[in-house]
Amino acid sequence: MNEVPKPESLSVTGNQRKVFIKTYGCQMNVYDSERMGDALAAEGYAATGEIGEADLVVINTCHIREKAVEKVYSQLGRIRKLKDQRALAGLETMVAVTGCVAQAEGPEIRARVPMVDVVAGPQSYHRLGEYLRQARAGKPVVATDFEIDDKFESLPPATRRQTLARGVAAFLTVQEGCDKFCSFCVVPYTRGAEASRPASQILEEARRLADAGVREITLLGQNVNAWHARAESGSPMRLGDLLAQLSAISGVERLRYTTSHPNDMDESLIEAHRELPKLMPYLHLPVQSGSDAILKAMNRRHDRGLYLDIIARIREARPGIAISGDFIVGFPGESDADFEATLDLVRQVNYAQAYSFKYSQRPGTPGADMPGQVPDEAKAARLLELQALLQAQQHAFNRSLLGREADVLIEKRGRFASQYIARSPWLQSVIVDASAGEIGDIVRVRITEAGPLSLKAVAEQSGESPQ
Ligand code: 5AD
Ligand code: SF4
Repeated sequence: MNEVPKPESLSVTGNQRKVFIKTYGCQMNVYDSERMGDALAAEGYAATGEIGEADLVVINTCHIREKAVEKVYSQLGRIRKLKDQRALAGLETMVAVTGCVAQAEGPEIRARVPMVDVVAGPQSYHRLGEYLRQARAGKPVVATDFEIDDKFESLPPATRRQTLARGVAAFLTVQEGCDKFCSFCVVPYTRGAEASRPASQILEEARRLADAGVREITLLGQNVNAWHARAESGSPMRLGDLLAQLSAISGVERLRYTTSHPNDMDESLIEAHRELPKLMPYLHLPVQSGSDAILKAMNRRHDRGLYLDIIARIREARPGIAISGDFIVGFPGESDADFEATLDLVRQVNYAQAYSFKYSQRPGTPGADMPGQVPDEAKAARLLELQALLQAQQHAFNRSLLGREADVLIEKRGRFASQYIARSPWLQSVIVDASAGEIGDIVRVRITEAGPLSLKAVAEQSGESPQ
């Protein structure tokens, strides 16, 4: 996060209002921040990366773990000082808190930090412009209703310029909310019930992205594989069908989706991995624990066997696919044997990448009041052990690609002018020589170095057919 600037560095030039948006949390928040940026641009705000020159600061927040919430409040403390400093220079600074903390804590945010002008949950941010006008007229706003109107319908689409500025790989939210109620998770309370965007809206947005030069689209949803709709013919559509339709859009060269729940991993989606070359060989499929007893207490509604069965089926459909997952250690009641079962599952699956967390008690979720809360030292020790195993697997996966050919998407300039950062089919960053092509090109390379987190590659001679 940017340091709070000293008063003399505050900008007082320029007429156009400026907005600084800080995003915490998941990719869905990144997408929401982009859409807020588009909506605020239509209201006359230009984006700035300098918080000190912002007339409006938007903090798009995450509520998933306690740490994420603490970060928001300490950030608001810094912004309060900044707002006071700017006020001394005669400058107004509006502050809006959006996202899942806004939804969960609502009025408490203004009670703790009264300088906040607008609090708006994830289902209300399409009204941000209106709320800012109300706040400027002296009526601060707290908006946490789950609106019944379709926010995506009322948000302006990104312009070509905005899309181009964001790069050649884009996020596209297709589904929001969750009805699963895992007993550790706040998402069903902060994002509301599962809702799918209509296929026509998604296809139109994808076409617009492709027209602006986007080559790779990642479909987003808290439960992305729960996406469903009805085709024009009336027949039901699932995510696999949507991916097939998106594959047919020329210009869209690569597709991904995240995050999935094992229970929604239906046959059409597994088959999509077999049939659609544009669907990248990567699956993020959280399991959280390898112990059936803990999975039950977590209300995951699947067991270890079902998860392992899906992994086997997806590997059969797309050999070499990179498997990624999420894990929680120290859920209430987790014994040493339960934790061992998680390590055992990790050894069986052999992950290419993973995220792991210490269980965090979230107020209002069933897990928070369960007996058998695990002491922090035990959680920390388990996390260390699990992460050591996962990191070793990730490095081994990367090394298994050494000498292999792959098609990578050149995304941006590297740290040195002579380098680009590209993206592999398996989602690693790949450092390539700048002579390999241009940003937006998909080029055939050979992997020459494999670190724990990224790869290096050299361009293959042209004239070969793509993957
Ligand atoms: N404590 C720790 N991790 C959590 N996650 C969700 N809720 C909690 C919690 N209360 C993790 C899960 C989920 C990921 C997005 O965050 O692993 O898949
Ligand atoms: Fe949270 Fe479980 Fe829903 Fe994922 S499936 S968002 S972990 S409640």
